Amino acid sequence: MISADLGQRRTIVTGGASGLGLATARKFAEMGSTVALADLDGDRLGEAAASLAGEGLEVFAAPTDLRDPDAARQMVRAAAAQMGGLDYLVNIAGHPVTLTRIGPEDLDSQTEELWSEALSINLLSAFRTSHAAAPFLKESKGAIVNTASMAGWRGGGSSSPYSVAKGGVITLTKELARGLAPDVRVNAISPSYVHPDSTNFPLKWPSVFEDAAALPLGRPGTGEEYADVCLFLCAGASYITGQTIHVDGGWSA
Ligand SMILES: NC(=O)c1ccc[n+]([C@@H]2O[C@H](COP(=O)([O-])OP(=O)(O)OC[C@H]3O[C@@H](n4cnc5c(N)ncnc54)[C@H](O)[C@@H]3O)[C@@H](O)[C@H]2O)c1
Repeated sequence: MISADLGQRRTIVTGGASGLGLATARKFAEMGSTVALADLDGDRLGEAAASLAGEGLEVFAAPTDLRDPDAARQMVRAAAAQMGGLDYLVNIAGHPVTLTRIGPEDLDSQTEELWSEALSINLLSAFRTSHAAAPFLKESKGAIVNTASMAGWRGGGSSSPYSVAKGGVITLTKELARGLAPDVRVNAISPSYVHPDSTNFPLKWPSVFEDAAALPLGRPGTGEEYADVCLFLCAGASYITGQTIHVDGGWSA
């Protein structure tokens, strides 16, 4: 576990209502940051924000649908206005779009709708929020962390559109790192089997615990282990930009 003094810092965490996003929002808030939990409007977002706020943490719900370009950008501007600026944008929201695996050989199932949806929530969402956040982050000399996947690094995810979208996140991270330098550092994290208890994970991947047992580290990662790397990339890592860090228990080793 790592720590940092994030007093006076302001953070948006997308996907903040559950899983890796919730763990990261908690971590940043515990370190002293004000945190906007950006997620789909609904009970889960309200419960997550209320639960963290009930512990005395400075968090608030920032409901949005990141598939909607205007809503995504508006959410960032409103959250930054509420916090008086922005230091860190942590893009974690994502979705496999299909809950049963579609193999790469099954081209017929890779419909236009599936491609659009997968690219919109897993890749374009990160561009939309980063675009809107850029002026605030340049002002604060802040940082962005994106969320890729081992599927984006090697392929073989729940569907080809998901893998391609996550591969795009790795390249988007390099492009944004060049485009926003030297004021804003932009990095990504590529998880393997992290926090598998979260929301729909067991449904979409029943053998996740057995698969994780075969990793060099022999277990799935925790949300806290993911959040630690987010914290390092935001609050430390002052000479690192454009990189994707594998938080994967050795999967890619
Ligand atoms: N958990 C893992 O091991 C793992 C592995 C590879 C990649 N990932 C990636 O990590 C990220 C988080 O995964 P997780 O396991 O915590 O999943 P999760 O389902 O628990 O969390 C994802 C969050 O994103 C939100 N979200 C989905 N669509 C949205 C939209 N249109 N607008 C706003 N918010 C939306 C969901 O409501 C949810 O709260 C995802 O991008 C996922 O692809 C996770």
